[in-house]
Amino acid sequence: MRAASVSDYRELARRRLPNIFFEYIDGGSYAEETLRRNVADLEAIALRQRVMRDMTKIDMSVETLGQTLKMPVGLAPVGMAGMYASRGEAQAIRAATAAGVPFCLSTVGVCSIEEVAAAAKKQGGTPPWFQLYMLKDRGYMRELLARAKAVGCPVLVFTVDLPLPGSRYRDMRSGFTGGTPLQTMMTQAWEGVSHPAWTWDLFARGRPHTLGTVQDAVKGGRRVTDFLAWISRNFDRSVTWKDIDWVRESWDGPIVVKGVLDVEDARAAVKAGAQGLVVSNHGGRQLDGVRSSITALPKVADAVGGDLEVYMDGGVRSGLDVLKALALGAKACFVGRPWAWALGAGGQKAVEKMLDTLRAELAVAMILTGCTDVRSAGRELLDRD
Ligand SMILES: Cc1cc2nc3c(=O)[nH]c(=O)nc-3n(C[C@H](O)[C@H](O)[C@H](O)COP(=O)(O)O)c2cc1C
Repeated sequence: MRAASVSDYRELARRRLPNIFFEYIDGGSYAEETLRRNVADLEAIALRQRVMRDMTKIDMSVETLGQTLKMPVGLAPVGMAGMYASRGEAQAIRAATAAGVPFCLSTVGVCSIEEVAAAAKKQGGTPPWFQLYMLKDRGYMRELLARAKAVGCPVLVFTVDLPLPGSRYRDMRSGFTGGTPLQTMMTQAWEGVSHPAWTWDLFARGRPHTLGTVQDAVKGGRRVTDFLAWISRNFDRSVTWKDIDWVRESWDGPIVVKGVLDVEDARAAVKAGAQGLVVSNHGGRQLDGVRSSITALPKVADAVGGDLEVYMDGGVRSGLDVLKALALGAKACFVGRPWAWALGAGGQKAVEKMLDTLRAELAVAMILTGCTDVRSAGRELLDRD
């Protein structure tokens, strides 16, 4: 099968990846209500078709936090991408650089911040935005911030919706989590044998399989699952808005708070001095049953859009969805699963093609709604009786 739409990469990833990783990417928490809502609520929005306007020129570039993006899309932080394809985060930032969009590196990436920044710089690109979780070991967090600064990460994305991880039942069913060490080892060995193309790529070209940025902190950790267990034990539930001040002591660049759905929280983010926020429910992977990102977006954008940059993620599966999010107040949106699926399906090339598809779809959506410039996209682009 050749991928035409963004969602086709899901099927290709399903065929190529070991089940434990496909399910890890694809799944959400608990009954996956929020995961479904993210997609369904975007699908339910109608664009307003307008015709007979001169649409010879359209502009999809945006200025954001000191960077010019060629289109209003970024790659959201996704953990363990280096297990979907060899040195996955480095491949993904090369694809993002080619497309002129930002790549946000997860705290729990397989490639370290240094490796990913070097991959971008080699291509004349910008180092990754760096996503940080609040960890109990503040000394170690300070070191991470210093490393992000040293390699030139332009933006810190501070994820606030994960004081503890939500339960993802698919990971238990697939045998990725929750088994005895022997069961886990047997599952992983079987997955390796039954997915030879993936195994060859990961073992011939993709080692080491650690979480590169945090590996010094995990004493005796050898497998990715050791690192994930460490990080789960180290999430800090005591975190409050005051901790943004603490982060500020070690980080003088822009801070984007990721994981806000509520207007009061959005106002608190402004008060705490954040330069941006991502309206997000972690792709339906945390508190199941909360509203979709797209339905939370307009209220948040109305309340704080004049004070900081408002982005959104969750359920964006096409360039048409991108325009819907811009119309409802986002400055840009981020995609998580789309790039993880593409990476798993075909590495850097597939991520590049997936981004091309988003761009082509966004162009059509702009031309047929009469939107010449994404910066002026507003609610007039939607058909809402
Ligand atoms: C496999 C996977 C791993 C993720 N890992 C992280 C992470 O390490 N840090 C983080 O802030 N968000 C993480 N997220 C959430 C994404 O950044 C983003 O919020 C979400 O994927 C957006 O929804 P979408 O997948 O529908 O585009 C992860 C999402 C997925 C699917």
